[in-house]
Amino acid sequence: MEIGNIKIVVCKDYEAVSKKSAEIFAAQLKSNPKSVVCFATGSSPVGMYKEMIAKYKAGEVDFSEITALNLDEYYPIKKSNEQSYDYFMRDNLFNHINLDFSKQFILNGESADYEKECRDYDNLIHSYGEIDFQILGIGINGHIGFNEPCESLSAETHMVSLAQSTIDANARFFSSADEVPKHALTMGIGPIIKSKKALLIACGENKAETLYNAFMKNITTNMPGSFLQLHRDVTAVIDEAAFSCIKKNMK
Ligand code: F6R
Repeated sequence: MEIGNIKIVVCKDYEAVSKKSAEIFAAQLKSNPKSVVCFATGSSPVGMYKEMIAKYKAGEVDFSEITALNLDEYYPIKKSNEQSYDYFMRDNLFNHINLDFSKQFILNGESADYEKECRDYDNLIHSYGEIDFQILGIGINGHIGFNEPCESLSAETHMVSLAQSTIDANARFFSSADEVPKHALTMGIGPIIKSKKALLIACGENKAETLYNAFMKNITTNMPGSFLQLHRDVTAVIDEAAFSCIKKNMK
């Protein structure tokens, strides 16, 4: 089904969402083995990453030629911290596939000069032209990457103060909310919206109203996910619970 430009695939549950998302990702790698892929962290894509590892082990996918970018990283944070997104990616995917680590890039949460880190990351993205395949989750408050709801959004990589709702939502990964870093570095909205293909994964009742607001209401910086309405090729793979609010409001 489509809502405006956004293709929506509704699956029964998280497992089915993970399988469907992995099919889409695998098809991308088949059609363009040299894809520039921008990865997301968080709970939403973990099941898809497990499926991709299984596909790799079965000889069905090859990551050796891709370039791997990531959306964001806490700031400051050490790479060795198990909650860093650098660690997350290695642990949940990169260490288990045939990725060429010379073509793997993530914002450096250890950098002393975050402004330079952001400019360098933008230059890196621009050197690849456009991202071929953008993987996304969406925050309950509508953030994509760590582009939090705000009066204005930056197209470029920048440092953000995390919203209290994001700190609370991510506290589940830390021993307490106090340990969640208050800042992050994130790719801006520009390369996300300009990517050639985007895959958004969302599951659960707590994302239902967010998806309705992002996909069916007007575009606003207070709901960064609503900018996906302007994307040329975005597919949202969501479970029935996350679909419930859109379903209720469809004519
Ligand atoms: C993660 C990211 C975030 C998450 C979002 C949803 O790299 O950029 O936008 O995608 O916070 O997180 P989960 O999937 O844990 O609900």
